Amino acid sequence: MSRTSAIGAAGALCWGIAQAQDVPYPDGFHTWYHHHTTVNQDGHQPAGNVGIQHVYANDLAVEGLKTGSYRDGAMFVVDRYAISAGENHTLNQGDRKVVAVMLRNASGGAGTGGWVFAAFKGGDPAKQVVKDQNACFSCHAPLGDNNYLFTRGLR
Ligand code: HEC
Repeated sequence: MSRTSAIGAAGALCWGIAQAQDVPYPDGFHTWYHHHTTVNQDGHQPAGNVGIQHVYANDLAVEGLKTGSYRDGAMFVVDRYAISAGENHTLNQGDRKVVAVMLRNASGGAGTGGWVFAAFKGGDPAKQVVKDQNACFSCHAPLGDNNYLFTRGLR
């Protein structure tokens, strides 16, 4: 199934609650708009999120960043890697830890701000690990003023 038709299928879930398995792996997201990069240093909570992470937005997500409202099919990706100290005071990107995704599905994700969450361990499309949408949404829930996103605007 192509990415477009997979997103279409997920977006067409007008009934019931969408789950992580309704989120397709975001093939080719490295060519999407790169919004920013964050380094979560030692001491960051949760400790499992220590690493370097790059945030990407697909075309519909970029549209939403401009307009402030998101159509079904908008997707954000966090691509997180381990970090390690290198020679000459460098911090190097290591192994990929996870590809975390938010897919806009206003009706299917109604209980979690209109977003459906998924996470692919090690970036492996076969290793989707989110079982509880609310476990992801808990940190995003206070951001109702920004469509439950940490990412704001365009740079
Ligand atoms: C402990 C709090 C916390 C939890 C739990 C959490 N997130 Fe986030 N999420 C964040 C923070 C903080 C950012 C901003 C990251 C950055 O700017 O580098 C973020 C950003 C994102 C983004 C980019 C869009 C945005 O909001 O800026 C996606 C996609 C995302 N998270 C997916 C997930 C998924 C999937 C889960 C569940 C596996 C999850 N998040 C659980 C804190 C959390």
